Amino acid sequence: MDRYNFVRKPLTIKNLVIPNRIVFPPFVTGYSNPDGTISERQIAFYKSISKGGAGMIIVGATAVAPEGGGWMGNTAIYSDDFIPGLKRLFKETRTENNVVGIQLYHCGILTNSKRTGGLPLVAPSPLEYPDKSAKAHELTLEEIKNLETAFAEAAQRALSAGADFIEIHAAHGYLIDQFLSPLTNNRSDAYGGSLENRARFALNIMEKIRQSVGEDAVVGVRLGADEFLPGGYSLSDSKIFCKWFADKGMDFIHVSARMNEKGVTEMFSGTFVKMAAAIKKEVKVPVICVGGIKNLDRAEEILSEGSADLVAIGRALIADPDLVKKSFAGNKGDIVDCVDCFGCFTTMSDDNGNGMECTQNADLP
Ligand SMILES: Cc1cc2nc3c(=O)[nH]c(=O)nc-3n(C[C@H](O)[C@H](O)[C@H](O)COP(=O)(O)O)c2cc1C
Repeated sequence: MDRYNFVRKPLTIKNLVIPNRIVFPPFVTGYSNPDGTISERQIAFYKSISKGGAGMIIVGATAVAPEGGGWMGNTAIYSDDFIPGLKRLFKETRTENNVVGIQLYHCGILTNSKRTGGLPLVAPSPLEYPDKSAKAHELTLEEIKNLETAFAEAAQRALSAGADFIEIHAAHGYLIDQFLSPLTNNRSDAYGGSLENRARFALNIMEKIRQSVGEDAVVGVRLGADEFLPGGYSLSDSKIFCKWFADKGMDFIHVSARMNEKGVTEMFSGTFVKMAAAIKKEVKVPVICVGGIKNLDRAEEILSEGSADLVAIGRALIADPDLVKKSFAGNKGDIVDCVDCFGCFTTMSDDNGNGMECTQNADLP
């Protein structure tokens, strides 16, 4: 009997054929060169993930502006100088007939001067960096327009470098999310206040990207379905955001949630999948779910019950990049499990610049 019939079924979005339903979600690895260009280590990492058989690979959050990179060794795409490295990355990663795209972001207040090379922080409102060491400059209307254009230019660069699709990062408390959230957006102009005004930055970015890349390009969005914070937006709001995003031409919706402590707890409990299922009822475009999914049996279950169209498996593929191939071949027993230690996050996010490590995978490049 064929196993994983749902997982194995290809999905077509516009002209893009995704050979199976497993997605490697975006990860900042911290492996880029200090100037944000692609390194050999990064190419080796994505190659190993790709060879493992995931159908859709999303290169981690990539900065659309010089002050937009959130982490040490963050990939950047704010000028044409980044194109040659990205060209190599896309070409060499697409080893298995799979599709490889890139996530675009700006982290707003969620960075520090060491990571940005001392550039001033920007945000929708004059927010304080979490450790109170810096305050953000409140973006002017002209600066907001320039950033919307920066996203559109970055999308065009990514496609010209060979990306199969674009994912806009509107989750996890970064700049677009800072506009969406009433906790971080205190503006009283057209970009703040009502739900519609708070969504304006995201919607304008989507519109400008579409104008610059054309109708055929596949462009999706990752959003947080719930902030898990008192006074923050929740699932009922994000359902509305998703309808607007789909109306703006988003070709897929990737449902995550805020990555604060509560969010991480919820992620481990599988709550994110339930939120993806709720959002799937609201939109016609494919929905990706994510969060604590560790094996293809669970992915098959999610797909067969119709909770999502694609299933992202992140840390478990870092622990064992060959998880998909091994499962397809009936060799589940050989899989090295992710143990939820979150060491990948602590090693990526410290400021020593050594990049992501995994306690379960000594072969990470
Ligand atoms: C080290 C690390 C880096 C991450 N980088 C990104 C990122 O660049 N963009 C993003 O949207 N999510 C990022 N995430 C979240 C993952 O994409 C994913 O949603 C999360 O790990 C939950 O999925 P999992 O339980 O399958 O790992 C990151 C997570 C970790 C641990």
